[in-house]
Amino acid sequence: MIVTGAGGGLGAATTRQLHERGVNVLAVDLDVGTLEAAIGLHDERIAYLSADVSNAAEVERIATTTVQRFGRIDALFNNAATHGPAAAIEDYSEEEFRRVLDVNVIGVWLLMKATLAELARQKGRIVNVSSIAGLIGWKNLSGYTAAKHAVVGLTRAIAIEAASQDVAVNALCPGSMDTPMLWEGAKGLGVDMQTAGDMIASAIPRGTIGTPEEVAQAATWLLLDAPSFITGAAIPVDGGQTAT
Ligand SMILES: NC(=O)c1ccc[n+]([C@@H]2O[C@H](COP(=O)([O-])OP(=O)(O)OC[C@H]3O[C@@H](n4cnc5c(N)ncnc54)[C@H](O)[C@@H]3O)[C@@H](O)[C@H]2O)c1
Repeated sequence: MIVTGAGGGLGAATTRQLHERGVNVLAVDLDVGTLEAAIGLHDERIAYLSADVSNAAEVERIATTTVQRFGRIDALFNNAATHGPAAAIEDYSEEEFRRVLDVNVIGVWLLMKATLAELARQKGRIVNVSSIAGLIGWKNLSGYTAAKHAVVGLTRAIAIEAASQDVAVNALCPGSMDTPMLWEGAKGLGVDMQTAGDMIASAIPRGTIGTPEEVAQAATWLLLDAPSFITGAAIPVDGGQTAT
């Protein structure tokens, strides 16, 4: 199993739940020291790797390292992403826009491309992490919103390509989850963090921000337990926010 962005809020929570289920995990993030500290697990079922998912050679290294270390790739949690600026289009630089697409779209595509043949041998599973910003538009987040819509499109396209090999490919669309990325984005609201938290929670029918463990539960189910007949789906994990 490969987990990218494993040092972040959702990646670390998912890695821990997969580890509890006895799964072998290659945990990938930009900086291996930060990654190991975030996850804090040390045994034969976990390995850590520094890699940038937007770089094709580094993505190949992720795939080969997984096979060398664990003998196969049975699932991919394609979770690494960058938020990019919270800015109106006139203040959003082309360079920043391209970087967001490089990591959040090309990275997701590269990982699927590098692992699909091996996943097909295992009748494996792919879960791509999109966002509710992949289902509805968000003001001042043009790069992130475009990228997350693209992740839903990529999920559907590759689900169809991989279906005959019994590889299920789905997207999770988290809403507001309590991770560093949420609070980074919340700075764009221009209010103190307590007020920002209240504003964010008030937009969620459940009334509270989601926990990383809630996305991890959904991811673990799709990666380990769900039938392969569930494929090509974009599943909100959002406390009802996109149902409104
Ligand atoms: N937190 C939320 O509210 C929320 C909502 C919707 C979707 N998401 C999505 O969930 C996923 C996880 O986000 P999170 O909230 O845990 O954020 P996070 O910032 O805590 O974690 C993201 C991780 O990805 C890593 N990363 C960034 N660029 C990378 C690259 N080029 N190569 C390898 N690793 C890279 C970061 O170092 C970080 O550890 C992302 O795809 C994000 O877009 C999060």
